[in-house]
Amino acid sequence: MCGIVGVVCKENCCDYIFKGLRRVQYRGYDSVGICQKAGESIQIDKTKGLIDKLIEKTKPLKGAQVAMGHTRWATHGEVNEENAHPIAGKNQQWVIVHNGIIENYSSLISQLQKEGEIAKTQTDSEAIALLLSLNNFEDPIKNMLWAKRQLKGSYAFCAVKKQDKNCLYAAKYKSPLYAYCNGEIAMVASDPICFPQGDYYKLEDGQMCKVSDGKIVFYDNDGNIIYPSKQKYKKISSDCDKDGYQHYMLKEIYQTPEALARLAKNFLNTNFDKLKKVKFNKVKLIGCGSAYHSCLIGAEYFKKYLKTDAEAAYASEFRYSSEIINSKTLCIFVSQSGETADTIAAAEKAIKKHAKIVVLTNVLHSTLASLGQFVFPISAGSEIAVASTKAYSCQVAGLYLLVMALKGERSFYQSVRNVAQLSKTLEKFFINMSDFAQDIYQKNKIYFIGKGCDYITALEAALKLKEISYINCWAMPAGELKHGTLSLIERNTPVIVISTNKSVDDKVMNSALEAKSRGAKLYLISYNPPQENQLENFAFCLSLPKCCQPLKSILAIIPMQLLSYNVSILKGLNPDMPRNLAKSVTVE
Ligand code: AGP
Repeated sequence: MCGIVGVVCKENCCDYIFKGLRRVQYRGYDSVGICQKAGESIQIDKTKGLIDKLIEKTKPLKGAQVAMGHTRWATHGEVNEENAHPIAGKNQQWVIVHNGIIENYSSLISQLQKEGEIAKTQTDSEAIALLLSLNNFEDPIKNMLWAKRQLKGSYAFCAVKKQDKNCLYAAKYKSPLYAYCNGEIAMVASDPICFPQGDYYKLEDGQMCKVSDGKIVFYDNDGNIIYPSKQKYKKISSDCDKDGYQHYMLKEIYQTPEALARLAKNFLNTNFDKLKKVKFNKVKLIGCGSAYHSCLIGAEYFKKYLKTDAEAAYASEFRYSSEIINSKTLCIFVSQSGETADTIAAAEKAIKKHAKIVVLTNVLHSTLASLGQFVFPISAGSEIAVASTKAYSCQVAGLYLLVMALKGERSFYQSVRNVAQLSKTLEKFFINMSDFAQDIYQKNKIYFIGKGCDYITALEAALKLKEISYINCWAMPAGELKHGTLSLIERNTPVIVISTNKSVDDKVMNSALEAKSRGAKLYLISYNPPQENQLENFAFCLSLPKCCQPLKSILAIIPMQLLSYNVSILKGLNPDMPRNLAKSVTVE
C-alpha cells in the first residue's frame, strides 16, 4: 500500500504535497517522490527513504500550479529511486502516482513493448503511465477511461498530462481515494487526513475525477459526469503530533487509558437492539495481524459468555477457504484502518454468502466500515505508529463489550464498569521495562509462552517485538514447548512466560521449568505472584495489578508493548516506521 496526494492551487503546491505525504506516510515509507507541473514543464523529484530527504532535494518549480506526491510500500520492484513514484510514460507525456496492484501488468507491459512503449522500471504501476501515453487522445478523460479499462487489480492513481492545462486526473478502484475542494485549492488523496478542514468527497470504485483550479468534476465508470455528495468532515484529533513523546508508539501506548474510557462511554451510548434481533448460530471473527489476535480473544468471549460456537480466522485465509458461511453466520471483521485489503475482501465474500456483517474499526469513513450492517468504532483515536498498541487494546475491549451487550443489560453495564475501571488501573500502571529490554535486546531469538488467552497475548507480544526489533520471536502454547521447540532452547535463550489465569499457573510453570532445565532464561509476567521459592527461577518478574479476568489480556499486553518499544530503541531503530512494513496493508 502507498499514499498518494494531488493538488491544484495557485501557489505553494509543494507545501500541500509535503504536508499530505507526512500524513499518509503510515501507508508506506520505502521511497517518496513529487511531480510539479507549470504549464507544459514537468519536474519530477524522488528518493529512496523518508520525506525529509525529498524536501531537501526538491526545488519548487516556478509557476507550478499542479503537483502530486507518492510515498511507497514496494509491492513490485525493489526499493530504489528508479522504482519510486512519480513514474512517467514516454517523453513524460503522462506522469502518474499509484496505490494498489495492477495484476495484469506483465501482459500489459509486454503488449506495450510491442507498441514501442518501453518499461524503464520494475513496477506494475508503470503500465498505467505507458497506457495513458500510448493513445494520447485529445481529451484526457478519454485517455483515462481507455487506460483504466485495460487494468485488472486495484488502483487509486493520479495522473497529469504534459500538454494539458493546469489540472490533474484521478481514478479509483479497490484502493481508497478522496477528493477535496474549497474554491481555492482542490486536492485528491489516499486519506482525508491530508486535506484542510472541511467536508470532502469519497470516490467509489470505477469513478474518476478531473481536478482543476478550484474545481473538481466527477465521472462515473462510463465517463458521464456525476454529482456525488460530500462526506461530513470529522475533526482530526491532534493525534497527528507526538505531543512531546519521542515516538508515536510510546504516546499511543500511554493513550490506552483514555482510549478505553472513550470506548466504554461510546458503547454505553450505543443502541444494540437491532443487533440483538439478529439470529445466528455461529460466529466468525476475521482480521489480520494484531486485529486477528483480538479476534482470537473475541472468540473466547463468545464461547465463554454466550456459549456460542465462535472461531477466529485470518482474513487472508478466510477469503480463499471453504468456510461454511450462510445467513445464520455472524461475521465480525476487525480492522484498525478499515482499509486492509485482505479483510475487505473477506467481508465481500461473507456478504456474498449472506452472512450478517459486523465491523469493529477505528476509521468510520473506511471502506470496511461501508460494508458493515453493524459498525462499532473502537474509539482509539488516530494510531500513527505501524505497531498497533492502543487500537489492539480497544479491539479486545470492544469485543468484550459487544459480547456483554448481547448477553444482557446487567452483564453489559457491568462490563462497561469493568472497562472504565481498567482505564483507571492503567493510568497508574506504566512500568519501566528498560532493564528487561537491556537483558534481551541483543538476542537473536525469543520465545513467548502462555495458556488460553495468555497464549493469545503471547502471540501479540511476539508480533509486537519482532515487527519493531527484527528479532526472531515466536509464541506457542506453554504445553507445546516439549513437542519440538525445546530443541531450539540454548543457554540463556529468553523464554517470556505470561500467566494470568490462576487455574493453570502450575501447568504453565511446569512448561517454563522444562525450558529452564535446558538452559533457558525465564521472564515472568503474572497476575498471581509466584511462590517465594519459585522467584529465583526468573531473571525478571512482573506482577500485574488487580483486574477482572476477561480484561487481563489487555493488562498483560501493555508491558509487552513497552518492552518491544524499549528493545527497538536500544537497537537504534525507529519503532514508528519499522523496515518493510506499513500501517495499513491495502494490497493483497
Ligand atoms: C500490528 O502491530 C501490525 N502493524 C499489523 O499486524 C496490523 O495489525 C494488521 O496489518 C491489521 O491492520 P488493520 O487492523 O488496520 O486491519
